[in-house]
Amino acid sequence: MREAAPVFHDEQSGSWHVFRYDDVQQVLSDHARFSSRLGGNDPSETGQLFASSLITTDPPRHRQLRSLVTQAFTPKAVDALAPRISQLTEELLDGIASRGTADLIQELAYPLPVIVISELLGIPAQDRDLFKQWSDVIVSQTRTGTTNENHYLTNKEMTEYFLDLIEQRRHQPGQDLISNLQSAEIDGQKLSVAELLGFCALLLVAGNETTTNLIGNAVLCFTEVPGTIDRLLTEQSLLPQAIEEVLRFRSPVQSMYRVTVADTTLGEVQIPAGAPLVAWIGSANRDERQFQRPTQFDIDRSQIRHLAFGHGIHFCLGAPLAKLEAKIALEATLSRLPGLTLAPGAHLERMESTIIYGLKTLPA
Ligand code: HEM
Repeated sequence: MREAAPVFHDEQSGSWHVFRYDDVQQVLSDHARFSSRLGGNDPSETGQLFASSLITTDPPRHRQLRSLVTQAFTPKAVDALAPRISQLTEELLDGIASRGTADLIQELAYPLPVIVISELLGIPAQDRDLFKQWSDVIVSQTRTGTTNENHYLTNKEMTEYFLDLIEQRRHQPGQDLISNLQSAEIDGQKLSVAELLGFCALLLVAGNETTTNLIGNAVLCFTEVPGTIDRLLTEQSLLPQAIEEVLRFRSPVQSMYRVTVADTTLGEVQIPAGAPLVAWIGSANRDERQFQRPTQFDIDRSQIRHLAFGHGIHFCLGAPLAKLEAKIALEATLSRLPGLTLAPGAHLERMESTIIYGLKTLPA
């Protein structure tokens, strides 16, 4: 598509699809032309939970909302979480190392980010499984873009759960993000309930599946290319660069949505106002105009300017956290599971989603 139809109009759905690196970067970052406001008005849509969240808001409200949470996600704040992330990783690996075989998604890549984001949000430990189930239903919704009864119930349950938690934190504030957000003010005004819910839902989904898939995709890439694990064990400083290459090569978030604010032109193509647009991050990250040998996974690639975390004002807030979790988890996995390989004949099934790229299981 990058060659034949870099900006493609799908007449059936009415959406416009953008495939080249430069165009995707422009769509993601030029918020004056490409709005992030989507939100249908049907409360049965999961989109409704996100309707007042950072990711679906344009400036100036976006800047105000983002400023409330940036402090919690700066590289410095995130580095302070390293000892806890290491401890959790070691605990999860204890069981795996003693057995010698495992499903690395279910037993490591899946629980680690859930526990970390739950602790940040102040979710009681006993509720974490529920939290993960909701997140999975929301991701499954991205497969079709439609809602069914399961999605509707999930939205309802999630909304009720978070309303309850927000109320509890109002009476008994703690050191967690929900407590901070419920007491935060912008120009003397507290956040609306919809905005508070938007934050909870967004951090829940954004902090979960994406990081799980980064870790899972990394294990897949490292075991697929012979010699990679040995290099990473002998040259440990290569790991951060190798993780960037995983983000480029198998981007956990494949696409993001925007809507045109007015009639506009992208490349040579004219697009009307109000048109829904899909920016294909996964395609941009393999654009031969930007990367040499783009279909090759190469840990020696340096200064990789991938778009896996987006670009511009909506650049992923959780990028430092995701990279830290991946680095700690992968470092420990490679050293504690020597000779790591995928189970012979393992059936690797991809998640069914057009937005999220990752594996359902990873038997090793
Ligand atoms: C935004 C990817 C992990 C929180 C984004 C965007 C992308 C992305 C592509 C841009 C959305 C847009 O332009 O519309 C990823 C990937 C991750 C990851 C690939 C893991 C490998 C996380 C984590 C958190 C997080 C761990 C939080 C704990 C957010 C938030 C936004 C965001 C709050 C919205 C920022 C805004 O609109 O200003 N992420 N993400 N992400 N991400 Fe992540």
